[in-house]
Amino acid sequence: MATFHQRVFSGMQPTATLHLGNYLGALTNWVAMQKTHECIYCVVDMHAITQSLDVWGGPAELTRATREVTAAYVAAGVDPKTSIIFNQSQVPGHAELAWVFNTVARLGWLNRMTQFKEKAGKDKEAASVGLYDYPVLMAADILLYKATHVPVGEDQTQHLELTRDIAQKFNNDFSESIASKNLGTGDLGFFPLPEAMTQGPAPRVMSLRDGTKKMSKSDASDNSRINLTDDAETIAQKIRKAKTDPDALPSEEKGLEGRPEAENLVGIYAGLSGMAKTDVLVQFGGGQFSGFKTALVDLAVAKLAPIAGEMRRLLAEPDHIDAILGEGAQRAAAIAAPIMAEVKDIVGFVSRR
Ligand code: TRP
Repeated sequence: MATFHQRVFSGMQPTATLHLGNYLGALTNWVAMQKTHECIYCVVDMHAITQSLDVWGGPAELTRATREVTAAYVAAGVDPKTSIIFNQSQVPGHAELAWVFNTVARLGWLNRMTQFKEKAGKDKEAASVGLYDYPVLMAADILLYKATHVPVGEDQTQHLELTRDIAQKFNNDFSESIASKNLGTGDLGFFPLPEAMTQGPAPRVMSLRDGTKKMSKSDASDNSRINLTDDAETIAQKIRKAKTDPDALPSEEKGLEGRPEAENLVGIYAGLSGMAKTDVLVQFGGGQFSGFKTALVDLAVAKLAPIAGEMRRLLAEPDHIDAILGEGAQRAAAIAAPIMAEVKDIVGFVSRR
């Protein structure tokens, strides 16, 4: 039976600083996946510029944030020797394939994208064409490498469905060309239909000030989140100040229902320790928050302060970071170039041989 080579692709936008939610929700998963898959991790700088300039912060901020996100990948444990780490704009195939996909994707498909509606807000006429086209570029990111597995948060599953729709329509529209040029993988077509891997047991990390809201880079209060660049003292202070309720911790998970702040802090403890929530409650159930918070401070500082330290060390040498990205871009391009050449051949574009 024909199969595609298993390959993971994922990316984050270089906008603002990454936080604990990005770490527990995505990066720890990316790190683990290196053991089982070939992994390509991208810093999607071309996606970053789709929002208005004041949102992404302008050229100097884009450069800074690209290096910072790269440093976060590495400090969290993504190994640039094993995995490929690069920024999107250095590999021309992303834009080239996105153009072909622009002619495959239908307006009706893009009109259904809920994230565009959220990001564009009320004044859709003022949104950039790039923001509208964002999901098509994302499909190109993934399929340029024929990636089969894509770790993403739940907010991206609709974009993954669109990616599969684009892959399928390309495979169908060009099926004769693919077959006659012998470029298909058995009867599966040219592109795989990539699967979303929504993060398994990792908790949804919520704001430290309001357990019903997601931890977010756009929250006005810095105390609502733990940034990956926060030092030990800042981490400790934010946890000590984190909102709780007056009751003792429950001994079982169902006791967390209706107590979003308790649930969040227990989830964070579980995520950072690798323990199940049930076991965290076996250990801390019945006790007051003060004792639990002391343990959580120790754990969070032990796990996260070294990452912040490593990021600072890496960021002090921007040339080294740029070299990681440059080498990653070369390795990425080596995978992408033959696939893009085949796409051009399938479509019928004449090219130099
Ligand atoms: N849209 C993704 C996000 O905001 C980022 C992204 C861009 C991505 N291209 C991708 C994620 C390809 C996975 C695969 O989270």
